[in-house]
Amino acid sequence: MPVFDLGIQPLANDFCLEGEERQGYAPLKVMLCNDCGHAQLSVVVKPSILYSKYRYVTSPSLTMRHHFASLVSDMLKEGPAGSVVEIGSNDGLFLQYLSGHGFGNLVGIDPAINLAEIANSRQVHTVRDFFNADSARLAKDMVGKVDFIIARHVFCHIDDWQAFIRNVEILCDRDTVVCIEAPYGWDTLNRCEFDQVYHEHLSFLSVHAMSVLLKGTTLHIHNVLKYPVHGGAILIMLRQNGSKEPPKTDADVWKNDRFTLLNWVDFADEARVRIDDLRTFVNARVEEKKIVVGYGASAKSTVWINACGFTRKHIRYICDETPQKLSTFSPGSDIPIVQPEVLARERPDFAILWAWNFAEEIIAKEKAFRQAGGEWVIPVPELKII
Ligand code: TMP
Repeated sequence: MPVFDLGIQPLANDFCLEGEERQGYAPLKVMLCNDCGHAQLSVVVKPSILYSKYRYVTSPSLTMRHHFASLVSDMLKEGPAGSVVEIGSNDGLFLQYLSGHGFGNLVGIDPAINLAEIANSRQVHTVRDFFNADSARLAKDMVGKVDFIIARHVFCHIDDWQAFIRNVEILCDRDTVVCIEAPYGWDTLNRCEFDQVYHEHLSFLSVHAMSVLLKGTTLHIHNVLKYPVHGGAILIMLRQNGSKEPPKTDADVWKNDRFTLLNWVDFADEARVRIDDLRTFVNARVEEKKIVVGYGASAKSTVWINACGFTRKHIRYICDETPQKLSTFSPGSDIPIVQPEVLARERPDFAILWAWNFAEEIIAKEKAFRQAGGEWVIPVPELKII
Protein backbone atom coordinates (compact mmCIF):
# COMPACT_ATOMS: atom_id res chain seq x y z
CA MET A 1 0.00 0.00 0.00
CA PRO A 2 1.24 3.59 -0.66
CA VAL A 3 2.77 5.22 2.42
CA PHE A 4 4.68 8.25 1.19
CA ASP A 5 4.09 10.20 -2.01
CA LEU A 6 6.19 13.07 -3.36
CA GLY A 7 4.29 13.21 -6.66
CA ILE A 8 5.99 13.44 -10.04
CA GLN A 9 9.64 14.35 -9.56
CA PRO A 10 12.74 14.85 -11.70
CA LEU A 11 15.55 12.29 -11.45
CA ALA A 12 17.62 13.47 -8.52
CA ASN A 13 21.09 13.24 -10.07
CA ASP A 14 20.07 14.57 -13.48
CA PHE A 15 22.39 17.57 -13.24
CA CYS A 16 22.77 18.77 -16.85
CA LEU A 17 24.98 21.24 -18.64
CA GLU A 18 23.33 23.97 -20.72
CA GLY A 19 21.76 22.34 -23.78
CA GLU A 20 22.10 18.76 -22.50
CA GLU A 21 18.94 16.69 -22.72
CA ARG A 22 17.18 15.99 -19.41
CA GLN A 23 16.18 12.45 -18.48
CA GLY A 24 12.68 13.50 -17.44
CA TYR A 25 10.32 12.94 -14.54
CA ALA A 26 8.74 9.94 -12.84
CA PRO A 27 6.38 9.26 -9.92
CA LEU A 28 8.08 9.08 -6.53
CA LYS A 29 6.02 7.00 -4.17
CA VAL A 30 6.94 4.51 -1.43
CA MET A 31 4.89 1.34 -1.04
CA LEU A 32 4.89 -0.91 2.02
CA CYS A 33 4.36 -4.66 1.96
CA ASN A 34 1.92 -5.58 4.68
CA ASP A 35 3.29 -9.11 4.94
CA CYS A 36 7.04 -8.63 5.36
CA GLY A 37 7.22 -4.88 6.09
CA HIS A 38 9.48 -4.25 3.12
CA ALA A 39 9.31 -0.69 1.73
CA GLN A 40 10.08 0.10 -1.90
CA LEU A 41 9.26 2.58 -4.67
CA SER A 42 6.19 2.07 -6.84
CA VAL A 43 8.02 2.85 -10.09
CA VAL A 44 11.45 1.65 -11.21
CA VAL A 45 13.25 3.97 -13.63
CA LYS A 46 15.36 1.99 -16.11
CA PRO A 47 18.90 1.62 -14.72
CA SER A 48 20.37 2.48 -18.14
CA ILE A 49 18.72 5.93 -17.84
CA LEU A 50 19.96 6.50 -14.30
CA TYR A 51 23.48 5.14 -14.34
CA SER A 52 25.08 4.98 -17.78
CA LYS A 53 26.33 8.52 -17.38
CA TYR A 54 26.41 9.22 -13.68
CA ARG A 55 27.37 12.48 -12.02
CA TYR A 56 27.46 11.08 -8.49
CA VAL A 57 31.00 10.40 -7.40
CA THR A 58 32.12 9.08 -4.03
CA SER A 59 33.17 12.03 -1.93
CA PRO A 60 36.92 12.17 -1.32
CA SER A 61 36.16 14.07 1.92
CA LEU A 62 37.74 13.58 5.33
CA THR A 63 34.42 12.22 6.60
CA MET A 64 34.52 9.45 3.99
CA ARG A 65 38.18 8.70 4.71
CA HIS A 66 37.29 8.18 8.37
CA HIS A 67 34.42 5.96 7.33
CA PHE A 68 36.66 3.92 5.01
CA ALA A 69 39.06 3.44 7.93
CA SER A 70 36.22 2.09 10.13
CA LEU A 71 35.04 -0.21 7.37
CA VAL A 72 38.50 -1.61 6.73
CA SER A 73 39.06 -2.17 10.43
CA ASP A 74 35.77 -4.13 10.62
CA MET A 75 36.64 -6.12 7.48
CA LEU A 76 40.00 -7.07 8.96
CA LYS A 77 38.25 -8.52 12.00
CA GLU A 78 36.84 -11.12 9.59
CA GLY A 79 40.09 -12.13 7.93
CA PRO A 80 43.38 -10.82 6.52
CA ALA A 81 43.49 -8.24 3.74
CA GLY A 82 42.87 -10.19 0.54
CA SER A 83 41.08 -10.08 -2.77
CA VAL A 84 38.02 -7.90 -3.25
CA VAL A 85 35.20 -7.50 -5.76
CA GLU A 86 33.31 -4.25 -5.33
CA ILE A 87 29.82 -4.06 -6.78
CA GLY A 88 29.02 -0.50 -7.88
CA SER A 89 32.62 0.61 -7.59
CA ASN A 90 31.81 4.12 -8.87
CA ASP A 91 35.07 5.98 -9.61
CA GLY A 92 37.25 3.38 -7.84
CA LEU A 93 37.96 5.52 -4.76
CA PHE A 94 37.28 2.79 -2.19
CA LEU A 95 39.24 0.13 -4.10
CA GLN A 96 42.13 2.56 -4.40
CA TYR A 97 41.92 3.09 -0.63
CA LEU A 98 41.96 -0.69 -0.09
CA SER A 99 44.99 -1.11 -2.32
CA GLY A 100 46.78 1.42 -0.11
CA HIS A 101 45.88 -0.69 2.94
CA GLY A 102 47.30 -4.06 2.00
CA PHE A 103 44.47 -5.47 -0.11
CA GLY A 104 45.41 -6.82 -3.54
CA ASN A 105 43.67 -8.42 -6.51
CA LEU A 106 40.86 -5.88 -6.64
CA VAL A 107 38.13 -5.64 -9.26
CA GLY A 108 35.19 -3.26 -9.47
CA ILE A 109 31.94 -3.65 -11.36
CA ASP A 110 30.21 -0.45 -12.47
CA PRO A 111 28.20 0.58 -15.55
CA ALA A 112 29.05 4.31 -15.69
CA ILE A 113 31.25 5.02 -18.71
CA ASN A 114 32.45 8.39 -17.42
CA LEU A 115 33.43 6.96 -14.00
CA ALA A 116 35.25 3.90 -15.35
CA GLU A 117 37.74 6.32 -16.93
CA ILE A 118 38.53 7.83 -13.53
CA ALA A 119 38.80 4.33 -12.03
CA ASN A 120 41.26 3.35 -14.76
CA SER A 121 43.38 6.39 -14.03
CA ARG A 122 43.54 5.09 -10.44
CA GLN A 123 44.74 1.69 -11.71
CA VAL A 124 41.47 0.13 -10.52
CA HIS A 125 40.32 -2.67 -12.85
CA THR A 126 36.65 -2.18 -13.59
CA VAL A 127 34.20 -4.48 -15.36
CA ARG A 128 32.07 -1.85 -17.07
CA ASP A 129 28.64 -3.34 -16.68
CA PHE A 130 25.67 -3.60 -14.37
CA PHE A 131 25.94 -6.29 -11.73
CA ASN A 132 24.48 -9.36 -13.37
CA ALA A 133 25.42 -13.03 -13.86
CA ASP A 134 27.80 -12.19 -16.74
CA SER A 135 29.68 -9.43 -14.94
CA ALA A 136 29.82 -11.55 -11.77
CA ARG A 137 31.37 -14.46 -13.73
CA LEU A 138 33.83 -12.15 -15.45
CA ALA A 139 34.91 -10.60 -12.14
CA LYS A 140 35.22 -14.06 -10.58
CA ASP A 141 37.43 -15.21 -13.48
CA MET A 142 39.62 -12.14 -13.03
CA VAL A 143 40.01 -12.46 -9.25
CA GLY A 144 39.90 -16.22 -8.62
CA LYS A 145 39.24 -16.82 -4.93
CA VAL A 146 37.23 -13.86 -3.59
CA ASP A 147 37.89 -12.93 0.05
CA PHE A 148 35.57 -9.93 0.27
CA ILE A 149 32.61 -8.73 -1.75
CA ILE A 150 31.68 -5.12 -1.05
CA ALA A 151 28.51 -3.35 -2.10
CA ARG A 152 28.50 0.16 -0.68
CA HIS A 153 25.18 2.00 -0.97
CA VAL A 154 24.24 -0.12 -3.94
CA PHE A 155 21.73 -2.55 -2.53
CA CYS A 156 19.09 0.17 -2.22
CA HIS A 157 19.52 0.82 -5.96
CA ILE A 158 18.57 -2.76 -6.88
CA ASP A 159 15.02 -3.71 -7.84
CA ASP A 160 15.51 -7.48 -8.08
CA TRP A 161 16.94 -8.51 -4.73
CA GLN A 162 16.75 -12.23 -5.46
CA ALA A 163 18.81 -11.85 -8.64
CA PHE A 164 21.32 -9.71 -6.73
CA ILE A 165 21.83 -12.44 -4.13
CA ARG A 166 22.06 -15.15 -6.82
CA ASN A 167 24.80 -13.13 -8.57
CA VAL A 168 26.60 -12.62 -5.25
CA GLU A 169 26.53 -16.41 -4.86
CA ILE A 170 28.37 -16.72 -8.21
CA LEU A 171 31.22 -14.68 -6.72
CA CYS A 172 31.34 -16.48 -3.38
CA ASP A 173 33.80 -19.06 -2.13
CA ARG A 174 33.23 -20.91 1.12
CA ASP A 175 34.82 -18.23 3.29
CA THR A 176 33.96 -15.10 1.33
CA VAL A 177 32.71 -12.22 3.47
CA VAL A 178 29.92 -10.26 1.77
CA CYS A 179 29.65 -6.67 3.04
CA ILE A 180 26.42 -4.90 2.12
CA GLU A 181 26.36 -1.30 3.31
CA ALA A 182 23.17 0.70 2.83
CA PRO A 183 21.28 3.57 4.42
CA TYR A 184 19.50 2.02 7.40
CA GLY A 185 15.76 2.37 6.83
CA TRP A 186 15.22 3.03 10.53
CA ASP A 187 17.61 5.98 10.52
CA THR A 188 15.79 7.33 7.46
CA LEU A 189 12.50 7.08 9.36
CA ASN A 190 13.62 8.16 12.82
CA ARG A 191 15.53 11.20 11.61
CA CYS A 192 12.86 11.97 8.99
CA GLU A 193 15.45 11.90 6.21
CA PHE A 194 12.75 12.04 3.54
CA ASP A 195 15.37 13.36 1.12
CA GLN A 196 16.74 9.80 0.95
CA VAL A 197 13.63 9.02 -1.08
CA TYR A 198 14.53 9.43 -4.75
CA HIS A 199 14.31 7.28 -7.84
CA GLU A 200 17.69 5.62 -7.28
CA HIS A 201 16.77 4.49 -3.77
CA LEU A 202 14.37 1.74 -4.64
CA SER A 203 14.09 0.26 -1.19
CA PHE A 204 14.62 1.06 2.48
CA LEU A 205 16.54 -1.66 4.19
CA SER A 206 15.79 -3.40 7.44
CA VAL A 207 17.66 -6.39 8.77
CA HIS A 208 14.34 -8.20 9.02
CA ALA A 209 13.75 -7.79 5.24
CA MET A 210 17.28 -9.05 4.55
CA SER A 211 16.75 -12.13 6.71
CA VAL A 212 13.51 -12.89 4.80
CA LEU A 213 15.33 -12.48 1.49
CA LEU A 214 18.10 -14.88 2.45
CA LYS A 215 15.77 -17.78 3.21
CA GLY A 216 16.49 -20.57 0.73
CA THR A 217 19.82 -19.05 -0.40
CA THR A 218 23.32 -20.26 0.48
CA LEU A 219 23.96 -17.13 2.57
CA HIS A 220 23.09 -16.03 6.07
CA ILE A 221 23.54 -12.88 8.17
CA HIS A 222 26.90 -13.10 9.88
CA ASN A 223 27.09 -9.68 11.53
CA VAL A 224 25.33 -6.31 11.58
CA LEU A 225 27.19 -3.07 12.22
CA LYS A 226 26.08 0.54 12.22
CA TYR A 227 27.89 3.67 11.07
CA PRO A 228 26.95 7.37 11.23
CA VAL A 229 27.90 7.99 7.58
CA HIS A 230 25.29 9.48 5.19
CA GLY A 231 22.75 10.01 7.97
CA GLY A 232 22.97 6.46 9.33
CA ALA A 233 24.16 3.37 7.50
CA ILE A 234 24.04 -0.31 8.25
CA LEU A 235 26.60 -2.90 7.22
CA ILE A 236 25.10 -6.36 6.89
CA MET A 237 27.84 -8.96 6.61
CA LEU A 238 26.84 -12.24 5.02
CA ARG A 239 28.67 -15.54 4.95
CA GLN A 240 28.07 -18.81 3.16
CA ASN A 241 26.08 -21.39 5.10
CA GLY A 242 29.10 -23.75 4.91
CA SER A 243 31.43 -21.18 6.52
CA LYS A 244 33.35 -22.28 9.63
CA GLU A 245 32.94 -18.83 11.23
CA PRO A 246 30.06 -18.72 13.73
CA PRO A 247 27.63 -15.79 13.27
CA LYS A 248 28.36 -12.72 15.40
CA THR A 249 24.73 -11.68 15.59
CA ASP A 250 21.46 -13.48 16.01
CA ALA A 251 18.74 -12.74 13.41
CA ASP A 252 16.21 -12.96 16.26
CA VAL A 253 17.69 -9.80 17.76
CA TRP A 254 16.56 -7.95 14.64
CA LYS A 255 13.11 -9.38 14.18
CA ASN A 256 11.55 -6.22 15.64
CA ASP A 257 13.03 -3.94 13.04
CA ARG A 258 10.25 -4.82 10.63
CA PHE A 259 8.50 -1.61 9.40
CA THR A 260 4.82 -1.12 10.14
CA LEU A 261 2.27 1.07 8.43
CA LEU A 262 2.23 3.40 11.44
CA ASN A 263 6.00 3.95 11.19
CA TRP A 264 5.61 5.21 7.63
CA VAL A 265 2.48 7.25 8.33
CA ASP A 266 4.35 9.10 11.11
CA PHE A 267 7.30 9.63 8.80
CA ALA A 268 5.11 10.99 5.99
CA ASP A 269 3.35 13.43 8.38
CA GLU A 270 6.65 14.62 9.78
CA ALA A 271 8.14 15.05 6.29
CA ARG A 272 5.28 17.35 5.31
CA VAL A 273 6.00 19.52 8.36
CA ARG A 274 9.72 19.68 7.50
CA ILE A 275 8.97 20.65 3.89
CA ASP A 276 6.59 23.39 5.05
CA ASP A 277 9.12 24.64 7.59
CA LEU A 278 11.87 25.12 5.02
CA ARG A 279 9.52 26.57 2.40
CA THR A 280 8.16 29.10 4.90
CA PHE A 281 11.63 30.00 6.11
CA VAL A 282 13.01 30.60 2.61
CA ASN A 283 9.92 32.51 1.41
CA ALA A 284 10.20 34.84 4.40
CA ARG A 285 13.90 35.48 3.76
CA VAL A 286 13.27 36.15 0.06
CA GLU A 287 10.51 38.63 1.02
CA GLU A 288 13.09 40.40 3.18
CA LYS A 289 15.37 40.55 0.08
CA LYS A 290 17.92 38.28 1.73
CA ILE A 291 20.08 36.12 -0.51
CA VAL A 292 19.64 32.39 0.01
CA VAL A 293 21.87 29.80 -1.67
CA GLY A 294 22.44 26.08 -1.34
CA TYR A 295 25.58 24.14 -0.46
CA GLY A 296 25.96 20.55 -1.74
CA ALA A 297 24.30 19.67 -5.04
CA SER A 298 23.40 16.29 -3.65
CA ALA A 299 20.52 14.13 -4.85
CA LYS A 300 19.00 15.14 -1.51
CA SER A 301 19.08 18.80 -2.62
CA THR A 302 16.98 17.91 -5.66
CA VAL A 303 14.38 16.21 -3.47
CA TRP A 304 14.15 19.22 -1.14
CA ILE A 305 14.07 21.81 -3.90
CA ASN A 306 11.29 20.10 -5.83
CA ALA A 307 9.30 19.16 -2.72
CA CYS A 308 9.43 22.82 -1.60
CA GLY A 309 8.83 24.18 -5.12
CA PHE A 310 11.98 26.33 -5.06
CA THR A 311 13.27 28.05 -8.19
CA ARG A 312 16.17 30.41 -8.88
CA LYS A 313 14.00 33.12 -7.37
CA HIS A 314 14.41 31.39 -4.02
CA ILE A 315 17.84 29.78 -4.28
CA ARG A 316 20.37 31.79 -6.31
CA TYR A 317 22.85 28.96 -6.81
CA ILE A 318 24.20 25.81 -5.19
CA CYS A 319 27.89 25.46 -4.34
CA ASP A 320 29.51 22.10 -4.96
CA GLU A 321 33.13 21.06 -5.35
CA THR A 322 32.44 18.02 -7.58
CA PRO A 323 34.06 18.72 -10.98
CA GLN A 324 31.36 16.62 -12.74
CA LYS A 325 28.62 18.91 -11.37
CA LEU A 326 30.25 22.27 -12.02
CA SER A 327 28.30 24.50 -14.47
CA THR A 328 25.36 22.10 -14.51
CA PHE A 329 21.81 22.99 -13.47
CA SER A 330 19.76 21.33 -10.78
CA PRO A 331 17.04 18.92 -12.00
CA GLY A 332 13.56 20.41 -12.08
CA SER A 333 14.56 23.92 -10.95
CA ASP A 334 17.51 24.79 -13.21
CA ILE A 335 19.32 26.38 -10.27
CA PRO A 336 22.99 26.76 -11.35
CA ILE A 337 25.75 24.75 -9.67
CA VAL A 338 28.86 26.80 -8.94
CA GLN A 339 32.22 26.35 -7.26
CA PRO A 340 32.36 26.79 -3.48
CA GLU A 341 34.62 29.85 -3.99
CA VAL A 342 31.49 31.78 -5.04
CA LEU A 343 30.27 31.58 -1.43
CA ALA A 344 33.31 33.45 -0.17
CA ARG A 345 33.14 35.98 -2.98
CA GLU A 346 29.43 36.80 -2.95
CA ARG A 347 28.72 36.44 0.76
CA PRO A 348 25.06 35.44 0.66
CA ASP A 349 22.93 35.76 3.80
CA PHE A 350 21.94 32.11 4.14
CA ALA A 351 23.31 28.83 2.79
CA ILE A 352 21.13 25.75 3.02
CA LEU A 353 23.39 22.80 3.73
CA TRP A 354 22.06 20.07 1.49
CA ALA A 355 25.21 18.07 2.12
CA TRP A 356 24.09 17.90 5.78
CA ASN A 357 25.79 14.53 6.12
CA PHE A 358 29.11 16.41 5.85
CA ALA A 359 28.02 19.33 8.03
CA GLU A 360 30.92 19.35 10.46
CA GLU A 361 33.55 19.18 7.75
CA ILE A 362 31.96 21.77 5.46
CA ILE A 363 31.20 24.29 8.21
CA ALA A 364 34.81 24.03 9.41
CA LYS A 365 36.13 24.45 5.87
CA GLU A 366 33.88 27.42 5.10
CA LYS A 367 34.35 29.31 8.36
CA ALA A 368 34.83 32.59 6.47
CA PHE A 369 31.15 32.41 5.50
CA ARG A 370 29.99 32.73 9.09
CA GLN A 371 32.70 35.21 9.93
CA ALA A 372 31.25 37.41 7.18
CA GLY A 373 27.81 37.20 8.80
CA GLY A 374 26.41 34.29 6.78
CA GLU A 375 24.17 31.74 8.46
CA TRP A 376 23.91 28.03 7.76
CA VAL A 377 20.50 26.48 7.38
CA ILE A 378 20.63 22.80 8.32
CA PRO A 379 17.46 21.05 7.14
CA VAL A 380 18.00 17.59 8.68
CA PRO A 381 17.09 16.16 11.16
CA GLU A 382 15.31 19.43 12.07
CA LEU A 383 15.50 22.91 10.63
CA LYS A 384 18.34 24.62 12.44
CA ILE A 385 19.98 28.00 11.74
CA ILE A 386 23.54 28.43 12.93
P1 TMP B 1 26.22 13.12 -1.09
O1 TMP B 1 25.77 13.26 0.31
O2 TMP B 1 25.17 12.50 -1.97
O3 TMP B 1 27.58 12.47 -1.21
O4 TMP B 1 26.37 14.59 -1.68
C1 TMP B 1 27.17 15.55 -1.07
C2 TMP B 1 27.48 16.65 -2.09
O5 TMP B 1 28.20 17.67 -1.44
C3 TMP B 1 28.32 16.16 -3.25
O6 TMP B 1 27.82 16.68 -4.47
C4 TMP B 1 29.70 16.73 -2.96
C5 TMP B 1 29.39 17.98 -2.17
N1 TMP B 1 30.44 18.36 -1.21
C6 TMP B 1 31.06 19.58 -1.38
O7 TMP B 1 30.74 20.33 -2.33
N2 TMP B 1 32.05 19.94 -0.49
C7 TMP B 1 32.43 19.11 0.51
O8 TMP B 1 33.34 19.47 1.29
C8 TMP B 1 31.78 17.84 0.69
C9 TMP B 1 32.16 16.92 1.80
C10 TMP B 1 30.79 17.51 -0.21
